[in-house]
Amino acid sequence: TEIDIAAEDLDLGGYPHYMAKEIQEQPESVARMIRGRLDDRFGVARLDGLNLTPRELRGFSRVKILGCGSAYYVGQIGATMIEELARIPADAEAASEFRYRNPIIEADTLYIAVSQSGETIDTAFAVEEIKRKGGRVVGLVNVVGSTIARACDGGVYLHAGPEIAVASTKALTNMAVGFALIALSLGRVRDLSNADGQRIIDAIRALPGQIKSILDFEPEIAEHAKAVAAANSLFFVGRVRGYPVAREGAQKFKEISYRHAEAYQTSELKHGPLALIDESLPTVAVVPSDELTERNLAAVQQIKARGGSVLAVTHENVDFGELDVPRIVVPKTEPELDPILLTIPLQLLAYHAALTLGYDIDKPRNLAKSVTVE
Ligand code: AGP
Repeated sequence: TEIDIAAEDLDLGGYPHYMAKEIQEQPESVARMIRGRLDDRFGVARLDGLNLTPRELRGFSRVKILGCGSAYYVGQIGATMIEELARIPADAEAASEFRYRNPIIEADTLYIAVSQSGETIDTAFAVEEIKRKGGRVVGLVNVVGSTIARACDGGVYLHAGPEIAVASTKALTNMAVGFALIALSLGRVRDLSNADGQRIIDAIRALPGQIKSILDFEPEIAEHAKAVAAANSLFFVGRVRGYPVAREGAQKFKEISYRHAEAYQTSELKHGPLALIDESLPTVAVVPSDELTERNLAAVQQIKARGGSVLAVTHENVDFGELDVPRIVVPKTEPELDPILLTIPLQLLAYHAALTLGYDIDKPRNLAKSVTVE
Protein backbone atom coordinates (compact mmCIF):
# COMPACT_ATOMS: atom_id res chain seq x y z
CA THR A 1 0.00 0.00 0.00
CA GLU A 2 1.24 3.46 -0.71
CA ILE A 3 0.52 5.74 2.17
CA ASP A 4 1.67 9.32 2.18
CA ILE A 5 3.11 9.92 5.64
CA ALA A 6 5.39 12.77 6.66
CA ALA A 7 8.79 11.83 8.12
CA GLU A 8 8.01 13.34 11.54
CA ASP A 9 4.97 11.09 11.83
CA LEU A 10 7.24 8.09 11.59
CA ASP A 11 9.02 9.12 14.78
CA LEU A 12 8.30 6.58 17.50
CA GLY A 13 8.65 9.31 20.12
CA GLY A 14 10.37 7.00 22.57
CA TYR A 15 7.76 4.23 22.38
CA PRO A 16 8.86 0.70 21.52
CA HIS A 17 6.08 0.25 18.93
CA TYR A 18 3.71 2.41 16.91
CA MET A 19 0.83 0.53 18.48
CA ALA A 20 1.96 1.60 21.97
CA LYS A 21 2.34 5.18 20.76
CA GLU A 22 -1.05 5.20 19.08
CA ILE A 23 -2.79 3.77 22.14
CA GLN A 24 -1.24 6.47 24.31
CA GLU A 25 -2.18 9.23 21.85
CA GLN A 26 -5.89 8.59 22.32
CA PRO A 27 -6.71 11.27 24.90
CA GLU A 28 -5.30 13.84 22.47
CA SER A 29 -6.76 12.34 19.33
CA VAL A 30 -10.25 12.13 20.84
CA ALA A 31 -9.90 15.77 21.92
CA ARG A 32 -9.09 16.64 18.27
CA MET A 33 -12.11 14.64 17.09
CA ILE A 34 -14.55 16.63 19.20
CA ARG A 35 -12.94 20.07 18.97
CA GLY A 36 -15.43 22.61 17.59
CA ARG A 37 -18.09 19.94 17.12
CA LEU A 38 -20.04 20.24 20.39
CA ASP A 39 -22.78 22.85 20.63
CA ASP A 40 -23.76 23.36 24.27
CA ARG A 41 -26.53 25.83 23.60
CA PHE A 42 -28.63 23.40 21.64
CA GLY A 43 -27.22 20.13 22.98
CA VAL A 44 -26.25 19.06 19.49
CA ALA A 45 -23.21 18.13 17.41
CA ARG A 46 -21.96 20.47 14.68
CA LEU A 47 -21.14 18.29 11.69
CA ASP A 48 -21.23 20.63 8.71
CA GLY A 49 -19.22 18.20 6.60
CA LEU A 50 -22.16 15.80 6.47
CA ASN A 51 -23.80 18.21 4.00
CA LEU A 52 -27.20 17.31 5.40
CA THR A 53 -29.83 19.84 6.48
CA PRO A 54 -31.89 19.15 9.62
CA ARG A 55 -34.82 18.39 7.32
CA GLU A 56 -32.76 15.82 5.41
CA LEU A 57 -31.47 14.31 8.65
CA ARG A 58 -35.04 14.04 9.85
CA GLY A 59 -36.10 12.34 6.62
CA PHE A 60 -34.04 9.17 7.05
CA SER A 61 -35.95 6.24 8.44
CA ARG A 62 -33.04 3.80 8.61
CA VAL A 63 -29.25 3.81 8.94
CA LYS A 64 -26.91 1.27 7.39
CA ILE A 65 -23.24 1.25 8.36
CA LEU A 66 -20.56 -0.38 6.21
CA GLY A 67 -16.95 -1.14 7.01
CA CYS A 68 -14.51 -4.04 7.17
CA GLY A 69 -12.84 -5.79 10.08
CA SER A 70 -12.54 -3.60 13.12
CA ALA A 71 -14.25 -0.71 11.33
CA TYR A 72 -17.26 -3.00 10.92
CA TYR A 73 -17.23 -3.88 14.62
CA VAL A 74 -17.11 -0.20 15.55
CA GLY A 75 -19.96 0.23 13.08
CA GLN A 76 -21.94 -2.17 15.27
CA ILE A 77 -21.16 -0.01 18.27
CA GLY A 78 -22.37 2.96 16.22
CA ALA A 79 -25.59 1.25 15.14
CA THR A 80 -26.54 0.63 18.77
CA MET A 81 -25.77 4.26 19.69
CA ILE A 82 -27.94 5.50 16.81
CA GLU A 83 -30.83 3.22 17.77
CA GLU A 84 -30.58 4.29 21.40
CA LEU A 85 -30.18 8.03 20.91
CA ALA A 86 -32.16 8.62 17.72
CA ARG A 87 -34.54 5.64 17.81
CA ILE A 88 -34.02 4.88 14.12
CA PRO A 89 -33.43 1.27 13.03
CA ALA A 90 -29.70 0.97 12.39
CA ASP A 91 -27.39 -1.89 11.60
CA ALA A 92 -23.84 -2.53 10.48
CA GLU A 93 -22.68 -4.97 7.86
CA ALA A 94 -19.30 -6.06 6.56
CA ALA A 95 -18.80 -4.04 3.37
CA SER A 96 -17.03 -7.09 1.93
CA GLU A 97 -20.32 -9.03 2.05
CA PHE A 98 -22.65 -6.16 1.21
CA ARG A 99 -20.98 -5.44 -2.13
CA TYR A 100 -21.41 -9.02 -3.34
CA ARG A 101 -25.05 -9.59 -2.44
CA ASN A 102 -26.96 -7.21 -4.71
CA PRO A 103 -28.06 -5.05 -1.77
CA ILE A 104 -31.38 -3.21 -1.79
CA ILE A 105 -30.60 0.50 -1.70
CA GLU A 106 -33.32 2.70 -0.25
CA ALA A 107 -33.72 6.44 -0.71
CA ASP A 108 -34.70 7.01 2.92
CA THR A 109 -31.69 5.14 4.34
CA LEU A 110 -28.58 7.00 5.44
CA TYR A 111 -25.53 4.93 4.50
CA ILE A 112 -22.36 5.47 6.51
CA ALA A 113 -19.02 4.15 5.23
CA VAL A 114 -16.42 3.81 7.95
CA SER A 115 -12.70 3.43 7.26
CA GLN A 116 -9.40 4.51 8.76
CA SER A 117 -7.43 4.42 5.51
CA GLY A 118 -10.25 5.41 3.20
CA GLU A 119 -8.70 2.97 0.72
CA THR A 120 -10.21 -0.39 1.72
CA ILE A 121 -11.39 -1.79 -1.58
CA ASP A 122 -14.48 -3.60 -0.27
CA THR A 123 -15.72 -0.46 1.48
CA ALA A 124 -14.93 1.71 -1.56
CA PHE A 125 -16.90 -0.68 -3.82
CA ALA A 126 -19.82 -0.69 -1.39
CA VAL A 127 -19.88 3.13 -1.60
CA GLU A 128 -19.88 2.99 -5.41
CA GLU A 129 -22.72 0.48 -5.39
CA ILE A 130 -24.82 2.67 -3.08
CA LYS A 131 -24.19 5.73 -5.24
CA ARG A 132 -24.94 3.89 -8.47
CA LYS A 133 -28.34 2.99 -7.06
CA GLY A 134 -29.06 6.51 -5.87
CA GLY A 135 -28.39 6.11 -2.14
CA ARG A 136 -27.02 8.84 0.12
CA VAL A 137 -23.67 7.88 1.67
CA VAL A 138 -21.50 9.76 4.13
CA GLY A 139 -18.03 8.79 5.32
CA LEU A 140 -16.43 8.41 8.72
CA VAL A 141 -12.85 8.38 7.48
CA ASN A 142 -9.42 9.22 8.87
CA VAL A 143 -7.23 9.86 5.83
CA VAL A 144 -8.12 13.22 4.29
CA GLY A 145 -8.70 13.14 0.54
CA SER A 146 -8.66 9.32 0.40
CA THR A 147 -10.70 7.38 -2.17
CA ILE A 148 -13.66 6.75 0.15
CA ALA A 149 -13.64 10.30 1.55
CA ARG A 150 -13.79 11.68 -1.99
CA ALA A 151 -16.46 9.28 -3.15
CA CYS A 152 -18.90 10.04 -0.33
CA ASP A 153 -21.55 12.78 -0.45
CA GLY A 154 -20.20 14.22 2.79
CA GLY A 155 -18.62 13.04 5.98
CA VAL A 156 -16.88 13.49 9.27
CA TYR A 157 -13.10 13.27 9.37
CA LEU A 158 -11.63 11.40 12.33
CA HIS A 159 -8.57 13.63 12.92
CA ALA A 160 -6.80 10.70 14.58
CA GLY A 161 -3.51 11.56 12.86
CA PRO A 162 -1.47 8.98 10.96
CA GLU A 163 -1.95 5.43 12.18
CA ILE A 164 0.98 3.19 11.32
CA ALA A 165 0.47 -0.02 13.33
CA VAL A 166 -1.51 -2.62 11.39
CA ALA A 167 -3.69 -3.18 14.45
CA SER A 168 -5.94 -0.15 14.56
CA THR A 169 -6.55 1.61 17.88
CA LYS A 170 -6.84 5.38 17.95
CA ALA A 171 -8.72 5.53 14.64
CA LEU A 172 -11.29 3.05 15.95
CA THR A 173 -11.83 5.08 19.11
CA ASN A 174 -12.42 8.19 17.03
CA MET A 175 -14.85 6.26 14.83
CA ALA A 176 -16.85 5.33 17.94
CA VAL A 177 -16.82 8.98 19.06
CA GLY A 178 -17.86 9.98 15.52
CA PHE A 179 -20.86 7.68 15.76
CA ALA A 180 -21.81 9.30 19.06
CA LEU A 181 -21.77 12.69 17.30
CA ILE A 182 -23.82 11.40 14.37
CA ALA A 183 -26.29 9.71 16.76
CA LEU A 184 -26.64 13.03 18.56
CA SER A 185 -27.34 14.84 15.27
CA LEU A 186 -29.93 12.28 14.23
CA GLY A 187 -31.45 12.24 17.72
CA ARG A 188 -31.76 16.01 18.11
CA VAL A 189 -33.84 16.39 14.94
CA ARG A 190 -36.18 13.77 16.44
CA ASP A 191 -37.19 13.06 20.02
CA LEU A 192 -33.92 13.48 21.89
CA SER A 193 -34.41 16.47 24.20
CA ASN A 194 -32.00 19.36 24.58
CA ALA A 195 -31.30 18.13 28.14
CA ASP A 196 -30.50 14.61 26.95
CA GLY A 197 -28.36 16.03 24.15
CA GLN A 198 -26.50 18.06 26.77
CA ARG A 199 -26.04 14.95 28.92
CA ILE A 200 -24.35 13.21 25.99
CA ILE A 201 -22.25 16.26 25.13
CA ASP A 202 -20.97 16.54 28.71
CA ALA A 203 -20.09 12.84 28.64
CA ILE A 204 -18.30 13.13 25.29
CA ARG A 205 -16.30 16.05 26.60
CA ALA A 206 -15.12 13.97 29.58
CA LEU A 207 -13.86 11.08 27.40
CA PRO A 208 -10.24 12.21 26.86
CA GLY A 209 -9.62 12.48 30.62
CA GLN A 210 -11.32 9.14 31.25
CA ILE A 211 -9.24 7.44 28.55
CA LYS A 212 -6.13 8.86 30.18
CA SER A 213 -7.14 7.31 33.50
CA ILE A 214 -7.57 3.87 31.84
CA LEU A 215 -4.10 4.15 30.26
CA ASP A 216 -2.67 4.81 33.73
CA PHE A 217 -3.59 1.22 34.57
CA GLU A 218 -1.34 -0.20 31.86
CA PRO A 219 0.98 -2.05 34.32
CA GLU A 220 -1.97 -3.92 35.86
CA ILE A 221 -3.43 -4.73 32.44
CA ALA A 222 -0.01 -6.03 31.37
CA GLU A 223 -0.13 -8.50 34.26
CA HIS A 224 -3.57 -9.73 33.18
CA ALA A 225 -2.24 -10.06 29.63
CA LYS A 226 0.57 -12.35 30.77
CA ALA A 227 -2.00 -14.63 32.38
CA VAL A 228 -4.30 -14.83 29.34
CA ALA A 229 -1.42 -15.15 26.85
CA ALA A 230 -0.65 -18.54 28.38
CA ALA A 231 -3.87 -19.99 26.91
CA ASN A 232 -4.09 -21.23 23.33
CA SER A 233 -7.69 -20.26 22.98
CA LEU A 234 -9.94 -17.62 24.57
CA PHE A 235 -13.52 -16.42 24.55
CA PHE A 236 -14.48 -12.77 24.56
CA VAL A 237 -18.10 -12.25 25.57
CA GLY A 238 -20.46 -9.31 25.86
CA ARG A 239 -24.07 -8.55 25.15
CA VAL A 240 -25.92 -5.74 23.35
CA ARG A 241 -23.58 -2.73 23.83
CA GLY A 242 -20.85 -5.04 25.03
CA TYR A 243 -20.97 -7.52 22.15
CA PRO A 244 -19.15 -5.44 19.52
CA VAL A 245 -16.66 -4.54 22.25
CA ALA A 246 -16.01 -8.27 22.70
CA ARG A 247 -15.72 -8.74 18.92
CA GLU A 248 -13.18 -5.97 18.63
CA GLY A 249 -11.29 -7.26 21.69
CA ALA A 250 -11.05 -10.73 20.13
CA GLN A 251 -10.04 -9.28 16.77
CA LYS A 252 -7.19 -7.26 18.27
CA PHE A 253 -6.05 -10.28 20.26
CA LYS A 254 -6.04 -12.55 17.18
CA GLU A 255 -4.27 -10.07 14.97
CA ILE A 256 -1.17 -9.62 17.05
CA SER A 257 -0.99 -12.50 19.53
CA TYR A 258 -1.93 -15.23 17.00
CA ARG A 259 -4.09 -16.82 19.65
CA HIS A 260 -7.52 -18.19 18.82
CA ALA A 261 -9.89 -15.66 20.32
CA GLU A 262 -13.56 -16.03 19.63
CA ALA A 263 -16.27 -13.52 20.44
CA TYR A 264 -19.74 -14.56 21.51
CA GLN A 265 -22.84 -12.85 22.74
CA THR A 266 -22.90 -13.68 26.43
CA SER A 267 -26.55 -14.60 25.99
CA GLU A 268 -25.62 -17.26 23.41
CA LEU A 269 -23.14 -19.14 25.58
CA LYS A 270 -25.70 -21.57 26.92
CA HIS A 271 -26.87 -22.33 23.37
CA GLY A 272 -23.67 -24.16 22.54
CA PRO A 273 -20.24 -22.70 23.28
CA LEU A 274 -20.51 -23.34 27.04
CA ALA A 275 -19.65 -26.95 26.18
CA LEU A 276 -16.09 -25.80 25.40
CA ILE A 277 -15.48 -24.19 28.79
CA ASP A 278 -12.87 -25.80 31.03
CA GLU A 279 -9.67 -24.76 32.86
CA SER A 280 -7.81 -24.36 29.58
CA LEU A 281 -10.18 -21.81 28.01
CA PRO A 282 -10.30 -18.43 29.75
CA THR A 283 -13.04 -15.91 29.04
CA VAL A 284 -12.72 -12.15 28.87
CA ALA A 285 -16.17 -10.88 29.85
CA VAL A 286 -17.49 -7.38 29.26
CA VAL A 287 -19.66 -6.65 32.30
CA PRO A 288 -20.71 -3.00 32.38
CA SER A 289 -22.86 -1.46 35.06
CA ASP A 290 -26.15 -1.20 33.20
CA GLU A 291 -29.55 -2.81 32.90
CA LEU A 292 -27.94 -6.16 31.96
CA THR A 293 -25.40 -6.43 34.78
CA GLU A 294 -27.26 -9.13 36.71
CA ARG A 295 -27.62 -11.31 33.61
CA ASN A 296 -23.95 -10.88 32.78
CA LEU A 297 -22.98 -11.84 36.31
CA ALA A 298 -25.14 -14.96 36.07
CA ALA A 299 -23.24 -15.95 32.90
CA VAL A 300 -19.90 -15.35 34.62
CA GLN A 301 -21.07 -17.58 37.43
CA GLN A 302 -21.97 -20.33 34.92
CA ILE A 303 -18.51 -20.14 33.35
CA LYS A 304 -16.84 -20.32 36.75
CA ALA A 305 -19.02 -23.28 37.76
CA ARG A 306 -17.60 -25.18 34.77
CA GLY A 307 -14.03 -24.56 35.79
CA GLY A 308 -13.40 -21.66 33.40
CA SER A 309 -11.48 -18.58 34.48
CA VAL A 310 -12.88 -15.12 33.78
CA LEU A 311 -11.25 -11.73 33.40
CA ALA A 312 -13.89 -9.00 33.62
CA VAL A 313 -13.82 -5.60 31.98
CA THR A 314 -16.24 -3.76 34.17
CA HIS A 315 -17.25 -0.73 36.23
CA GLU A 316 -16.38 0.05 39.84
CA ASN A 317 -19.86 -0.50 41.24
CA VAL A 318 -20.45 -3.95 39.73
CA ASP A 319 -20.64 -6.37 42.63
CA PHE A 320 -19.11 -9.77 41.84
CA GLY A 321 -19.92 -11.00 45.35
CA GLU A 322 -18.24 -14.32 46.06
CA LEU A 323 -17.03 -14.78 42.49
CA ASP A 324 -13.27 -14.93 42.25
CA VAL A 325 -12.84 -12.77 39.15
CA PRO A 326 -9.89 -10.48 38.36
CA ARG A 327 -11.13 -7.16 37.05
CA ILE A 328 -10.12 -4.32 34.80
CA VAL A 329 -12.21 -1.36 35.92
CA VAL A 330 -13.02 1.45 33.50
CA PRO A 331 -14.66 4.78 34.40
CA LYS A 332 -18.42 5.08 33.93
CA THR A 333 -19.82 7.33 31.27
CA GLU A 334 -23.37 7.59 29.95
CA PRO A 335 -24.55 4.02 29.20
CA GLU A 336 -24.84 4.72 25.45
CA LEU A 337 -21.15 5.68 25.37
CA ASP A 338 -19.82 2.86 27.57
CA PRO A 339 -18.46 0.85 24.59
CA ILE A 340 -15.98 3.63 23.78
CA LEU A 341 -14.21 3.22 27.13
CA LEU A 342 -14.70 -0.54 27.52
CA THR A 343 -12.71 -1.10 24.31
CA ILE A 344 -9.57 0.73 25.48
CA PRO A 345 -8.21 -1.85 27.98
CA LEU A 346 -8.70 -4.60 25.39
CA GLN A 347 -6.19 -2.83 23.15
CA LEU A 348 -3.65 -2.95 25.96
CA LEU A 349 -4.53 -6.55 26.73
CA ALA A 350 -3.76 -7.59 23.13
CA TYR A 351 -0.64 -5.44 23.00
CA HIS A 352 0.86 -6.90 26.17
CA ALA A 353 -0.10 -10.45 25.25
CA ALA A 354 1.77 -10.06 21.94
CA LEU A 355 4.68 -8.47 23.77
CA THR A 356 4.86 -11.40 26.20
CA LEU A 357 4.73 -13.86 23.31
CA GLY A 358 7.42 -11.96 21.43
CA TYR A 359 5.58 -11.32 18.18
CA ASP A 360 5.98 -8.49 15.67
CA ILE A 361 3.42 -6.10 17.09
CA ASP A 362 3.33 -3.43 14.39
CA LYS A 363 3.48 -5.76 11.40
CA PRO A 364 1.67 -8.99 12.21
CA ARG A 365 2.16 -11.85 9.77
CA ASN A 366 -0.20 -12.18 6.79
CA LEU A 367 -1.81 -8.75 7.27
CA ALA A 368 -1.60 -5.40 5.48
CA LYS A 369 -2.51 -2.06 7.03
CA SER A 370 -5.16 -1.58 4.43
CA VAL A 371 -6.58 -4.10 2.01
CA THR A 372 -6.59 -2.26 -1.31
CA VAL A 373 -6.60 -5.18 -3.74
CA GLU A 374 -9.07 -7.99 -4.33
C1 AGP B 1 -7.84 -3.51 12.54
O1 AGP B 1 -7.02 -3.73 13.61
C2 AGP B 1 -7.55 -4.29 11.32
N1 AGP B 1 -6.17 -4.20 10.92
C3 AGP B 1 -8.54 -4.28 10.19
O2 AGP B 1 -9.63 -5.07 10.58
C4 AGP B 1 -9.05 -2.92 9.68
O3 AGP B 1 -9.83 -2.30 10.65
C5 AGP B 1 -9.84 -3.13 8.37
O4 AGP B 1 -9.02 -3.73 7.40
C6 AGP B 1 -10.46 -1.87 7.83
O5 AGP B 1 -9.48 -0.92 7.49
P1 AGP B 1 -9.89 0.57 7.20
O6 AGP B 1 -10.44 1.13 8.47
O7 AGP B 1 -8.64 1.24 6.75
O8 AGP B 1 -10.94 0.54 6.13
